[in-house]
Amino acid sequence: MSFTNQKSPAKEAAGAEAAKLIQNNMIVGLGTGSTAFFFIQGLIKRCKKGLKIKAVSSSKSSEQLARDGGIEVLDLNDIEKIDMTVDGSDEIDHQKRMIKGGGGALLREKIVVNASDEMVVIVDESKVVDELGEFPLPLEVVPFGYELTKKQIEKKGYRTTVRKKENEIYITDNGNYIIDVQFKHLSGTPEDHEEVLKNIPGVLETGFFFNLAGRVIIGDHEGKVEIWK
Ligand code: 5RP
Repeated sequence: MSFTNQKSPAKEAAGAEAAKLIQNNMIVGLGTGSTAFFFIQGLIKRCKKGLKIKAVSSSKSSEQLARDGGIEVLDLNDIEKIDMTVDGSDEIDHQKRMIKGGGGALLREKIVVNASDEMVVIVDESKVVDELGEFPLPLEVVPFGYELTKKQIEKKGYRTTVRKKENEIYITDNGNYIIDVQFKHLSGTPEDHEEVLKNIPGVLETGFFFNLAGRVIIGDHEGKVEIWK
């Protein structure tokens, strides 16, 4: 999936603000999506003015974007840790719990974030919610027997959709599929749903991100930002 420069003062402001946080010699984790796109653009600008960093990426599209802008992108296996990862989110609540994976990169994003000293989240104001679940929860699933995996998820009460792109099943950078799951009509906390869903064989990862967000930068339609520490 590639993200082009769609006009959004809110996303652009959040991305640009995050780019200011990056310091010389950092290893930077690159998120994926239209907000991360603006962060990467901001980072490229700063690198052209002399900032020295190296990056690792959560997707092929962000890797390409960064490389095209002259940023060196390393293999995750070749580094010890990431200093700071900057990534978007589809929903974030006031406890900084998130749903991610709208762009299909949730598994790599979680691996990258987990290896990072800090995850800085960049969102526009529409992503801040009182309760998670309006946005369907993406699950990365193994293609083998995915129809069976889907039925197992439905048996637990969830509504499901196999993600498609141009009428074909969407395939992640890891060669897997995405099943988007509705849980809003069910009782239980996001943590309860995480436990149920992660226990279904074939489900590799969920788009729930708990206890991972550090600072959260929220851009608004006027291009102003609010920062949650
Ligand atoms: C990709 C993601 C994105 O961070 C999330 O979908 C938000 O995207 P955008 O910034 O385009 O709204 O999790 O897998």
